[in-house]
Amino acid sequence: MIIRKAEYVASAVKADQYPRDGLPEIALAGRSNVGKSSLINRFLGRRNLARTGNTPGKTQTLNFYRVNGAWYFVDLPGYGYAKVSQTVKAQWGGMTGNYFKKRENLRAVLQIVDIRREPSAEDLAMNAWLRGNGIPVLVVATKADKVARGQWPQHLKQISGSLAMEVWQIIPFSAASGFGADDLRAAVEEILGP
Ligand code: GTP
Ligand code: MG
Repeated sequence: MIIRKAEYVASAVKADQYPRDGLPEIALAGRSNVGKSSLINRFLGRRNLARTGNTPGKTQTLNFYRVNGAWYFVDLPGYGYAKVSQTVKAQWGGMTGNYFKKRENLRAVLQIVDIRREPSAEDLAMNAWLRGNGIPVLVVATKADKVARGQWPQHLKQISGSLAMEVWQIIPFSAASGFGADDLRAAVEEILGP
């Protein structure tokens, strides 16, 4: 896939703010600070299209980025950040929950995990919920640049084991180095179809 155009289109906290052009969407789910927004920027070859940051909770709305005028990346707020107040947490749950439950344009979810860490209880719950609801899930293990290459297999094995997936179903990725971007583009192409 060649990225010819990437544009920010909308931020939403409720359904009537979602884009209405009916294009297919691929959403990103994962813990706060895991690197969802950074993955979008690397994938699209745009340094600062999606805002990233060192403090968890950077993305607080559903953000829609249109790619090649043909489909959307939907950047979501992260889950599992304890310092965020319960009210905000409930709103995020509702905001992303409603999106997952109702959005017919949703084709697949990229679930982003940290290659260094065993998936959290929330990662497992999110993965099970998506699969249980028939939403295709692609798992991306990001921040691969933080682990020596020789240790990737053992990390990927641990992640795939706890998510009850096969190792080959997990894509190692690094927003810092760009590793894995080609595999991810191929996977996205497959999701979107001809
Ligand atoms: P929220 O919006 O808070 O949910 O976070 P997020 O998942 O969008 O994370 P974000 O992309 O903002 O990145 C969080 C931090 O991790 C930033 O400091 C990034 O620079 C860093 N980061 C993201 N991806 C990578 C990566 O592949 N390698 C390294 N070394 N750092 C990364
Ligand atoms: Mg973000």
